[in-house]
Amino acid sequence: MTQSVFPHRHLLGIQGLTPQHITMLLDLADGYVEQNRAADKKKALLRGRTVINLFYESSTRTRTSFELAGKRLGADVINMQVSASSVNKGETLIDTAMTLTAMHPDVLVVRHSDSGAVQLLSQKVDCAVINAGDGSHEHPTQALLDALTIRRRKGRLSGLLVAICGDVLHSRVARSNIHLLNIMGAQVRVVAPRTLVPATMSRLGVEVFHDMREGLKGCDIIMMLRVQNERMRGNFIPSIREYFHFFGLDYEKLGQAKADALIMHPGPMNRGVEIDSDLADDYERSVIREQVEMGVAVRMACLEVLARNYTGGTA
Ligand code: NCD
Repeated sequence: MTQSVFPHRHLLGIQGLTPQHITMLLDLADGYVEQNRAADKKKALLRGRTVINLFYESSTRTRTSFELAGKRLGADVINMQVSASSVNKGETLIDTAMTLTAMHPDVLVVRHSDSGAVQLLSQKVDCAVINAGDGSHEHPTQALLDALTIRRRKGRLSGLLVAICGDVLHSRVARSNIHLLNIMGAQVRVVAPRTLVPATMSRLGVEVFHDMREGLKGCDIIMMLRVQNERMRGNFIPSIREYFHFFGLDYEKLGQAKADALIMHPGPMNRGVEIDSDLADDYERSVIREQVEMGVAVRMACLEVLARNYTGGTA
């Protein structure tokens, strides 16, 4: 297995990682894909370690994925689902962090609705922290699993033309992916209505398109994003019908991309809103199920490198 030295105590975002560190995590995860397909999926690498999943926002796949990843490496995994509506969010977060620290976890996996909340928490605890999604800021393990999915299918990341489409404004998945793809030398386009593109996008070195057919021309990868109604304050889209007409991925618009272009979606999907339902299930083109599979492997790699750093030992 790859000998891996990851120089960070926490994984709070993709921004700031080097191509070498991203490659190292992807190489390590690649090995876990095979292990996860075998009958015996369990290793003792993290035996005796404790991972706490602290989720202030609901989640199915990310939480399950981290839970499986921890268990397959032999760690004890505890799930804590906390209601984000409880009294004062700031205070609650720090209080919870202090309480949890007293229980000596080795890794805290945190999801929170506020951008920056996970970083704040990482300053208060004395264990490794993984950001499982903070507000509309970052979701680093999602970008890593997307990268692993692409790399296994296309053999590389650099030089690929990737279109990230839909509700970019509210998407931590888009931000983490933009950072990762830029770092790894891919070319990124953002395709969205004007109301769903943050003003800062052009500073991130992406090309912005408001016409989906134009934006998809010649693309190798199409990443669709969920329309995040729960984060919208006000009217960002006129109607679902109109949104699907202009920005929903269907076979006709897909025709603009390369013939072997892959379709991705982080889930959960709004079928018939951002993506045609048949297309989502078309496994010739859609790698959505594969993304979920790669998620477990990537999270195993992240847990491994951070748990190893935490003790400074060899795990
Ligand atoms: C994403 C998230 O929570 O940011 N989902 C996920 O982690 N699989 C994307 C989304 O909710 O749309």
